[in-house]
Amino acid sequence: MAQLWGGRFTKETDQLVYNFNASISFDQKFYKQDINGSIAHVTMLASVGILTDDEKEQIIDGLNGILRDVENGTLEITDKYEDIHSFVEANLIDRIGDVGKKLHTGRSRNDQVALDMRLYSRDELLEVKGLVVNLIKVLHQLMKDNVDTYMPGFTHLQKAQPVTFAHHVGAYMEMFKRDYSRLCDIYERMNYCPLGAGALAGTTYPLDRELTAKLLGFYGPTANSMDSVSDRDYVIEMLSAFSTIMMHLSRFSEEIIIWNSNEYQFVELDDSYSTGSSIMPQKKNPDIAELVRGKTGRVYGALTSILTTMKGIPLAYNKDMQEDKELTFDAIDTVKGCLALFTGMISTMKLNKPNMEKSAMNGFTNATDAADYLVNHGVPFRDAHGIVGQLVLYCIDKNIALDDMTLDEYKAISPVFEEDIYKAISLEECVEKRNTIGAPGKEAIKLAIEANEKFIKELS
Ligand code: ARG
Repeated sequence: MAQLWGGRFTKETDQLVYNFNASISFDQKFYKQDINGSIAHVTMLASVGILTDDEKEQIIDGLNGILRDVENGTLEITDKYEDIHSFVEANLIDRIGDVGKKLHTGRSRNDQVALDMRLYSRDELLEVKGLVVNLIKVLHQLMKDNVDTYMPGFTHLQKAQPVTFAHHVGAYMEMFKRDYSRLCDIYERMNYCPLGAGALAGTTYPLDRELTAKLLGFYGPTANSMDSVSDRDYVIEMLSAFSTIMMHLSRFSEEIIIWNSNEYQFVELDDSYSTGSSIMPQKKNPDIAELVRGKTGRVYGALTSILTTMKGIPLAYNKDMQEDKELTFDAIDTVKGCLALFTGMISTMKLNKPNMEKSAMNGFTNATDAADYLVNHGVPFRDAHGIVGQLVLYCIDKNIALDDMTLDEYKAISPVFEEDIYKAISLEECVEKRNTIGAPGKEAIKLAIEANEKFIKELS
């Protein structure tokens, strides 16, 4: 047991208590952030005269040595230490002697852990942003390649009206663009430095919090020392944005699973992104899409957990807050893995365009257009709706499509129909006539693609 706080105790900690309390098994994940935070801290301490330049150099050399040795595997982080902060400090003292004991001047583990978690979250948020950008770029390419790929659009999972694959993918494009901008917003609020808040009430040392913040790439120091050590809003916001990303990935996965099924055959997943069955030789399963859908629950779980943990905690720091880490780390790894795999899966899947188009022609997806034809010929919409309903009934009875009816059959139900009804209900016409902002017609999609192009350009 290596603890930082034995002084006022007369007994050893019970082993079970020690184990229950320790966080080294998971907070070792941010050893790098902990060391970088300490380097900034001592740099600041020297600049205000609390440490000499020589002491600062010795401590920084020691810290860099620890970082190097952890990374090259010669120094192992073990559960002999209570947490990552104790590990670094104890190793520093081992290496450089008494001067290492000055590292923790003007600092508490409360503001230290608040800093580490923020630095770690910030780094990971940037990585997730990058992965969302990769996905957005793949979606952009899919849209550009599929302006003419017709498919049915669904409501209630029933064929509704024809759209294009570009338009369908375009819907997800909007979702992921919003996800991206949510991550940017969160970064703006998260990027303030809690170090210098002390345990809760600041410190009596003349710390230059502006400098520490600047050294660590923050916009500035946090404003209230009690809030600084108690705030985990940024974790909640981040997990909320991650949950929304997962929700979007999960919906898209669900569609890919449906499209990849034997019944639909709209897409075929690449062999490298599919799995087989141990018993059924014919099987090629969409496990990746299913796992993305399944793992969404873990990320929601992390969000619910931290919201619940935080809701009853009085100010300022309480040990409950140690619970902010494990599930957040798991959620971060999950979102990163899912984004990367999903992007690979959709960039390698093949579209079965003839099947998609055939499916778009069946199921009366052009019924609304037949009604619109009547409206354009002076029939009130409600009456037109009724007439087309009769047409559909007639076709179901004969097991044919609207396109297969003869003009005489049309006229028997309404004399308004003329030869041009066939063009009006053709698949091309049904899609291409729809050119209001956001619609699937080519002109509208071209504008959407241009807007996406601009969005992507402005990212770099
Ligand atoms: N492991 C602790 C955490 O994650 C570090 C802070 C400890 N502070 C304290 N007052 N015990 O929150």
